[in-house]
Amino acid sequence: MNRLCEMLNIQYPIFQGAMAWIADHAIAAAVSEAGGLGIIAAGNAPGEWLRNEIRALKKITDKPFGVNIMLLSPYAEEVAKIVVEEGASIVTTGAGDPGKYMNMWKEAGIKVIPVIPSVALARRMEKQGADAVIAEGCEAGGHIGELTTMVLIPQVVDAVNIPVIAAGGIADHRGFAATMMLGAEAVQIGTRFLVAKECTVHENYKQRVLKASDIDTVVTGRSTGHPVRALRNKLSREFTRLEKEGASVEELEALGAGGLRIAVVDGDVVNGTVMSGQIAGMVKEEQTAKEIIEEIMTKENRRLSHINE
Ligand SMILES: Cc1cc2nc3c(=O)[nH]c(=O)nc-3n(C[C@H](O)[C@H](O)[C@H](O)COP(=O)(O)O)c2cc1C
Repeated sequence: MNRLCEMLNIQYPIFQGAMAWIADHAIAAAVSEAGGLGIIAAGNAPGEWLRNEIRALKKITDKPFGVNIMLLSPYAEEVAKIVVEEGASIVTTGAGDPGKYMNMWKEAGIKVIPVIPSVALARRMEKQGADAVIAEGCEAGGHIGELTTMVLIPQVVDAVNIPVIAAGGIADHRGFAATMMLGAEAVQIGTRFLVAKECTVHENYKQRVLKASDIDTVVTGRSTGHPVRALRNKLSREFTRLEKEGASVEELEALGAGGLRIAVVDGDVVNGTVMSGQIAGMVKEEQTAKEIIEEIMTKENRRLSHINE
């Protein structure tokens, strides 16, 4: 228990990372029911999809849960209102500055927790009234910033007074402990929950993550200003080749468009974008969300009692 768990009314300081096309009510409800914070990812989905997902989650659990709003989504405005209408109590945001929605969410009593890649954005979010920030290092799967988790967390912790949640490269009790030592008050885990039994991502996707080694991810899209970490495949090789040849942003974005959906829904892990963190090399077992959370917390408690002896 710490001030963040108290603020959010959760048992364990473990967030399940939002994952567009993947983090639906099933995985989010399982994580929340197990004592962590499950998060539904609105991604680029329309408002009605999100409304149905929130309602479906509430049928499974009455525990707190979060909704992640991808600020670049064409439906951002609509989904920002739906979280209020559907009574979500926690919102995380990705891909930018949620400033324009802040008043609406705060008036509705929603806790707002933006994902940030830098000290400057963390400071700005605190000033605008964010309740905590998720500092995400570039080891993470999906859209990333420049700094590693090791470097980012202590600098953000020093820069703000609100709680900091560490994300990027955390999959077990050792990563959990390390980020606590850096001053984080919770962790956000994406890649390990990708292979949770309750996660509805295509089986081919899960198998790619389970079989990945330490050096199997690659970052593409630096030249477009939207770098993405994913497992190497035919698409990433083609993307890298075109980037090296100096292809235009439009050409590159057209190549990557819809890539995540193809991998997640159709299971095409050759031509789709298999977003995954570097820690995939350590994720070797499909477990339930409860098993994952309990394993991390039990081993962490053992470590702490050892230190206290
Ligand atoms: C497949 C995938 C999709 C993601 N989609 C989103 C998203 O829609 N919004 C967001 O804020 N973060 C997104 N993320 C980042 C995760 O929420 C989380 O911060 C990250 O996975 C943590 O690092 P890890 O992968 O090393 O555990 C995504 C990550 C993955 C792997």
